[in-house]
Amino acid sequence: MKFLQTFACLAAQYAITASIGGKTGVLIRGPEDPEKRAALQSIVTWDKHSLSVNGERIMIYSGEFHPYRLPVPSLWLDVFQKIKAMGFNCVSFYVHWALLEGKQGDFSAEGVFAFEPFFQAATDAGIYLIARPGPYINAEVSGGGFPGWLQRVKGVLRTSASDYLAATDNYVASISAIIAKAQITNGGPVILWQPENEYSSWVDGQSENPAYMQYVENQARNAGIVVPFISNDAGPDGHNVPGSGTGAVDIYGHDGYPLGFSCGSPTNWPAGALPTNYRAKHLSQSPNTPYSIDEFQGGSFDPWGGHGYDNCAALLNMEFERVFYKNNYAAGVAIMNIYMTYGGTNWGNLGHPGGYTSYDYGSAITENRLITREKYSEAKLQAQFLKVSPAYLTAIAGTNDSTTYTNTTDLTVTPVVGNGTETSFFVLRHTAYENTASTQYTLKLPTSAGTLSIPTLGGSLTLNGRDSKIHVTDYDVGGTTLLYSTAEVFTWKKFTSKTVLILYGGPGELHETAIKSTTSAVTIEGAGVTTKSTSGTVTLQWTTSATRRIVQLGTVYIYLLDRNSAYNYWVPDLSGSGSTPAYGTSLQNPESVIIKAGYLIRNVTTTSTGLYLNGDFNATTPIEVIGAASGLTALYVNGQKLSFTTNNYGVWSSSVAYNSPSLGLPSLSSLTWSYIDALPELQTSYSDKSWNFADYTTSNNTLRSLTTPTSLYSSDYGYHTGYLLYRGQFTATGAENSFTIETQGGSGFGSSVWLGSSYLGSWTGSTAEGRNNTYTVPTLTAGKVYVFTVLIDNMGLDENWSITYADRTRGPLNEGGLYPERQGFHQPNPPSSTWATGNPTDGITAPGVRFYTATFTLAIPAGYDIPLYFVFTDTTSPAADYRVQLYVNGYQFGKYTNNVGPEKSFPVPEGILNYRGTNTIAVTLWAQQAGGANVGGLTLVAGTPVLSSLGTVSLVSMPAYTSRAGAY
Ligand code: GAL
Repeated sequence: MKFLQTFACLAAQYAITASIGGKTGVLIRGPEDPEKRAALQSIVTWDKHSLSVNGERIMIYSGEFHPYRLPVPSLWLDVFQKIKAMGFNCVSFYVHWALLEGKQGDFSAEGVFAFEPFFQAATDAGIYLIARPGPYINAEVSGGGFPGWLQRVKGVLRTSASDYLAATDNYVASISAIIAKAQITNGGPVILWQPENEYSSWVDGQSENPAYMQYVENQARNAGIVVPFISNDAGPDGHNVPGSGTGAVDIYGHDGYPLGFSCGSPTNWPAGALPTNYRAKHLSQSPNTPYSIDEFQGGSFDPWGGHGYDNCAALLNMEFERVFYKNNYAAGVAIMNIYMTYGGTNWGNLGHPGGYTSYDYGSAITENRLITREKYSEAKLQAQFLKVSPAYLTAIAGTNDSTTYTNTTDLTVTPVVGNGTETSFFVLRHTAYENTASTQYTLKLPTSAGTLSIPTLGGSLTLNGRDSKIHVTDYDVGGTTLLYSTAEVFTWKKFTSKTVLILYGGPGELHETAIKSTTSAVTIEGAGVTTKSTSGTVTLQWTTSATRRIVQLGTVYIYLLDRNSAYNYWVPDLSGSGSTPAYGTSLQNPESVIIKAGYLIRNVTTTSTGLYLNGDFNATTPIEVIGAASGLTALYVNGQKLSFTTNNYGVWSSSVAYNSPSLGLPSLSSLTWSYIDALPELQTSYSDKSWNFADYTTSNNTLRSLTTPTSLYSSDYGYHTGYLLYRGQFTATGAENSFTIETQGGSGFGSSVWLGSSYLGSWTGSTAEGRNNTYTVPTLTAGKVYVFTVLIDNMGLDENWSITYADRTRGPLNEGGLYPERQGFHQPNPPSSTWATGNPTDGITAPGVRFYTATFTLAIPAGYDIPLYFVFTDTTSPAADYRVQLYVNGYQFGKYTNNVGPEKSFPVPEGILNYRGTNTIAVTLWAQQAGGANVGGLTLVAGTPVLSSLGTVSLVSMPAYTSRAGAY
């Protein structure tokens, strides 16, 4: 068998765990002295309650976002700002080793793979970072981050095998040096470091290896990483906890995906899936560190043939956030990272075979950076609440209780209790957490005024199905105390001359809030609020409605909203600048404002007279500015001055006009497409003299022994990605009548086989990862030489958590081994002037692969953020057997498999697409059925244009075609 020089494989190498362990001749330092660790720096410290940064106690509310899944650096700020606007203060990111060291010893992190712009964008948005560079990351990426060339390492991966450890050294030293410069100790945003990922489970005769974990930690320390180490155990299982000696981390953390990853039943919450043991586990495992959940479910991945990300978003929706996230607060979580908050795209073959091109994840921010899912708004309500509730961080989480605090055992309350008369938090949910029915209840809450039966003014409260609430007592609102509140706090702010508190409740719910105050309450907007003043306490009772009420007690203004209305309020931090980034910790930015608007408010800046808001609008939007300082006289939105009115309690009102722009998108089917045959290997004139021989007689794959005389695992020969080609030559005896072949390419893969130029057949794909096929062979002539050509769609290397490429700009995984890919024809300006013309919707009439390319121009108006999608519209039934790769300006942004699915709509971000200029698209059409196939339809479709303060999106580098030396 021969292989292409730079790409290819039969039985693609998934299981990259290699055999022969036990090589340990590696110098391992002893366990680090915890005191010594703490002394490495003094900016990020911790105790049993929480982290402190620069001496300020802070809850780390983090969202996971992988820069490599959005390869447009000028869009990173947009994602950071959207995460920041939710009230989060941190982002956790993985690093995908295989994208940075495609060839052993050749580390490169430039262009779309550079980290400096990512760190700068985080700083500009005021977002801290948690760095998670592996070396193993899982993350639904090819090889779990491991480059395919590790296949030729004999030692067992993720052990102390010296050849494996040595193979990690260059990567870890290189990436650590880059990240070290961005640590907070050097003025950057990185506050925490996670060595390894889920080093938690061992198979194939392996067992926990603390020396390996310690080696990974030492690599980072030796490269100058001084911030604390956190872990991400695959569940609260107590691995590498502080004080456990070799391999221990500074702050123990674990992950949790309690609803799992099957998006097919999006309303199914199985009984018992709510983790109610987190607090107890924490106390037994790591009581002296902040309770840390380093990945908590924010959505789900979806496999080939899966149910689609809208279903994942429905399963892990706002109700999930209410019940499950609040359950984490009930356990006292102080570092919480939501995986994923922005999922992004598995472009350019970076994903593992268990997923398709989209990695939307059903997360709060969609793949195309939209924040239209309700779960974004719900997460904002919660994170903003915690941001203004510093008492939460020192309150002590108690035990789940279904008898003490309500009048019904159908409900469970977990108290998170402040010391003495300090604020306490009572987290309420259904005892059977999955309950869909509403439950009426009254509360018995301990307060500084004794234990109270609430509501005190009569009536009963309601907890709807799949909801959870946080009732506070003795809650500080900038010097004013809420004795209790059944309505939930969204935010509050103490301005120079007034304090504003925003409370919300579900639709139509009775609520009661008592304020310690001797001032009488006046309803200044709306009606229907019952008020009662007794001995220093003012009690308000109302039923939530979409009509807003505002109650004034002296200089305190209390907004009573329903939840849907609360979603429209924003609490922007003042944007930072230069060396003073606005890392919004608990109560920073009191001089900022509260805004009622619509789609998004990113941030606010002020001059001595002007208030400048930056935000995005998808409709004409009334806006209100609450708390503008008295010296301010002018309002600017996205740089444009707006007139406004001021009401008698100082709120500004204005409106932002929205007009939908006309886009004039091209019709892709009317373009002039050029094509060439993508499989010249089938021609009898084809010479494979430049190909490599597949001549290794051994393989390191422990999961499957060789069944061929030489290894046909592509990764043994350096071919790790995309379409892979094999050629096998033999001399016929004349007695052959069939050809049996086992091909592997991961879930959703396909393969096709030719003998000479005669098509033998295909495996057209399902969720199977490998397949045996037997094809009938025509009568062969004895003594004559024949060639089999095998084409395999490799969907990526499997994750295995148990243990010189041509295009440096787009990275080592972007292109596969098809002839036009080897040549670089998928880039702009291919030499297509002499090619035939024809449209992929006309297709080919025989099994094979055809490569199409075309150009089009976009002239999209500036000032808008407009999602664009390439949509395949095939409706053939039964689905025709073909698969397509979509290249946009040389970047592979879609693997469409017509007969496996589910993805049909492929978003491509601005920056990869040139919104104001010429674009080149290329399509490889691989027909796997007799009679060939055609693309049913391919259109370019826009989502709702968003009038945006996003700013200029820079085009990424997109090298055009040049003749590649040595390409064949
Ligand atoms: C976790 C893992 C992540 C990711 C996640 C599922 O266990 O740490 O890397 O794979 O599962 O999306």
